[in-house]
Amino acid sequence: MEAFFKELGDAVLTQWKHDNFSLTKFPDIARAALEKKPPAKKVNLASLVRDFLLNDAQPAQTDSPFGEPELVVYSHPRFYIQLLFWMDGTTAIHQHEFSGAFHVMHGSSIHAHYDFEKPKSVTPYLRVGNLRMKKMELLETGRTVSIISGQQDIHSLFHLDSPSATVVVRTQHDPGTGPQFNYLPPHLAIDPHFSDTLMLRRKQLLDVLEQADDATYAQRAAEMVAELDFERGFSVLHHCMASLQQLGEWEPIMGAFEKKHGQLAQGIAATLKEDARRNVIKRLRNSIIEPEHRFFLALLMNAPTRANLLTLVAERFAKQAPSETVLRWVEELTIDSDAGVSALDATFPDTIDVDFESQLDVFLSAFAYFLNRDKKRPAALRDLSAQDIKALRAAFADSALGLLTA
Ligand SMILES: [Fe+2]
Repeated sequence: MEAFFKELGDAVLTQWKHDNFSLTKFPDIARAALEKKPPAKKVNLASLVRDFLLNDAQPAQTDSPFGEPELVVYSHPRFYIQLLFWMDGTTAIHQHEFSGAFHVMHGSSIHAHYDFEKPKSVTPYLRVGNLRMKKMELLETGRTVSIISGQQDIHSLFHLDSPSATVVVRTQHDPGTGPQFNYLPPHLAIDPHFSDTLMLRRKQLLDVLEQADDATYAQRAAEMVAELDFERGFSVLHHCMASLQQLGEWEPIMGAFEKKHGQLAQGIAATLKEDARRNVIKRLRNSIIEPEHRFFLALLMNAPTRANLLTLVAERFAKQAPSETVLRWVEELTIDSDAGVSALDATFPDTIDVDFESQLDVFLSAFAYFLNRDKKRPAALRDLSAQDIKALRAAFADSALGLLTA
């Protein structure tokens, strides 16, 4: 075991034992210990990796899928210390059934905090309510943040560097603070550890119908939504949304769910739409490695408004107007190929009749025009019809860039 973490863990243990293992005191104890001995300054990552690979004297490891991977570097029956690597990871918006503190040891992250207002339990595993972002901040290497268990500390992390590494000093489990909900903005909370094996198999069976191009697929999904309760109807919608949309069967099935569940279902269409948007951004992250561009993706995923996004850009890149910085990023991310012009998942509409060579200029000029709230129509757009402008606007609005052009 790395000597540093033995000392860190022993220091936490001594103080916590002195405080009679008070759960309410643990986050402060963990945070103070990490701030006194910051792993970012004290740990040589290369030698830690070598020690873990070659030295058998390590604490017992878990099979937790959290982290990429998770290493346990100190273990006690009441608390443990994890070293979490993140290659591509963005965490879901979540709360904890444990408490303590985490420390950014390597890399940096966007950290967003949320409130879940007016929560209403539908089942023990699913709640509806209003998820509101309270704060978004940049966590640089060396920062330490407390973790409080339960609903008062809902957060998400978007790691900007690959790999990133965080050290977590945490209790094993805080009784009574579960479940450890994940949140689907803007209106849903789901217990990710609840396993409904009948529904798991039913969804897999629906996949069989879908992949076999079976003519009854959409009808069976519709029947399930009509027949089943709210929680399981939602599960079908969540699972089948993309394929039902491709088949042109989505709207009536979503409409039937809303009609059946009335007020309770009011925010579900928006939640599913937002989930699909976030998944697109998560996928884009796999191919985008430039830290500034990852920062941009993190903001597109998490910032609630255009103004909020531009403020965060201005905070980090003060030399340039934030809209100029965003334009530069979109320009750098734009691909001009035989397949057409595109930026992230926004593509040049094929209904617009302009020369192939002019498409890039028209595309970027249109984005700048919409970003700046239609202030001055650029020369590249002068010859376009109102319908062309509408098509360009829709191309951005329906993409990951939609927040900036709405
Ligand atoms: Fe967390």
